[in-house]
Amino acid sequence: MQIRFADRRPDGDFALVLPVPGNDLRALNSLADRPTVEAALQRQRFEGEAAAVAEQFITDNGQVRRLLLVGTGTGAVTGENAEKLGSAVAARLQTSGETHAVIDLTGLALDPEAAARVALGAALRSWRYDRYRTKLKDKQKSTLTDLTIVGAAKGGEQRWRDRWLPVVQGTELTRELVTEPANIIFPQSFVERCREAVEGTGLEIEVLGLEQMRALGMGALLGVAQGSVREPQLLVLRWNGGGDAAPLAFVGKGVTFDTGGISIKPAQGMEGMKWDMGGAGAVVGAMKALALRKAKANIVAVCGLVENMPDGNAQRPGDVVTTMSGQTVEVINTDAEGRLVLADAITWVQREHQPATIIDLATLTGAILVALGHEFAGLFTPDDELAQQLLAASDASGDKLWRMPLAQSFDRLIDSPIADIKNVGPREGGSITAAQFIQRFVDDGVKWAHLDIAGKAWSDKPGTGYDKGATGFGVRLLDQFVADQLER
Ligand code: BES
Ligand code: MN
Ligand code: ZN
Repeated sequence: MQIRFADRRPDGDFALVLPVPGNDLRALNSLADRPTVEAALQRQRFEGEAAAVAEQFITDNGQVRRLLLVGTGTGAVTGENAEKLGSAVAARLQTSGETHAVIDLTGLALDPEAAARVALGAALRSWRYDRYRTKLKDKQKSTLTDLTIVGAAKGGEQRWRDRWLPVVQGTELTRELVTEPANIIFPQSFVERCREAVEGTGLEIEVLGLEQMRALGMGALLGVAQGSVREPQLLVLRWNGGGDAAPLAFVGKGVTFDTGGISIKPAQGMEGMKWDMGGAGAVVGAMKALALRKAKANIVAVCGLVENMPDGNAQRPGDVVTTMSGQTVEVINTDAEGRLVLADAITWVQREHQPATIIDLATLTGAILVALGHEFAGLFTPDDELAQQLLAASDASGDKLWRMPLAQSFDRLIDSPIADIKNVGPREGGSITAAQFIQRFVDDGVKWAHLDIAGKAWSDKPGTGYDKGATGFGVRLLDQFVADQLER
């Protein structure tokens, strides 16, 4: 969608959108037939709540025009409600037949940030992926191609272009990778798709293949990959915008399909395991956003890319593998593969890049859905300060996190009788023992947080800024964290 900012409404055909704060109907003063419009509002029981929409047709300068009145809630319209407004407009008009929408903010006194976030909400909500839908009826196709925002404060357009458009472009990359099926996106094609998507951004790319990972002794990651005909990859993206400070590291779980391996999953719902690379997807989307907006920070991102398949060569329950760190792991359940991939990716980034802080993102456990549903991702870190920083970024970005515990008593549950550690604990507290497993690979003195995003990477229903499907969860969170903590 093409988004423009303008001083006045354009000529010609468009759908007019007037935001209505609560029950303040001043925006209607610009309309010729105000009594009819007001009556229509009442009959639709419109009360101006954030994202409430009332729709009608009016005659405007002799032209029949679609009019949307969209609530912005009570109180000043700040970022969150501004995004809801943009998102509600895109959702309502996307397949409406309208090609151009004009949102007239005149009189609302939004600051530049809020005006830019109207655009952000609309852009994020209008993303869809119709590549494989060859028989869509005209009525099902997207029609809305243009959005004009009128009456924004000076600086709103620049704020949109400099701060938020890059985030949209990063989020779009994440959603595309997450949406693509596993016959299209597997480790090598994931790498290729990323190469194309970040070309010209200034991101440095490095890729390790099977032989290199073998030479490094990444026995945990390779054990997961060995049942698949797809070669595993370690994808590394580097952004150097922050002088010579030690980098922040992002680590993403990139299991391009998770059958469970020999500990195979039930058939019901297994197709969803194409998005078991949602952590890696979020990490590369965030890197694209940060590079496009030329963030003043040093960041290195590592994605462990593997496919988890059952096969004559697959690893077996009970196998013992040696990780790059030297620690040995008893693989009790081959379906607890994400932590094995993350372990070697984390060791590698510590050895190669000496990060001050590591944040890993992973669709790691079904247990986090039991604990937090689809409302929050789980945040695990022993560091109270890092927790507060991430929770602040969560509040500001809308990518919701809830802190979960870590403790010695949980750590003991993954001691193995034959190796240093086993890859699963008891069913109870499954997300926590998964986090404890990862923690054993974090070096002393390195700050670390783990985000279990299994409940957030995909949504069965639309929300603010996304339709059902891939949400792009994590991109805004990481972008915000960098803006708050490294770019001050
Ligand atoms: N990718 C799954 C976690 C998952 C489950 C993500 C449901 C999204 C929805 C992960 O690899 C997995 O299979 N975890 C197991 C761990 C268990 C074997 C200890 C799980 O959660 O069941
Ligand atoms: Mn699994
Ligand atoms: Zn998995």
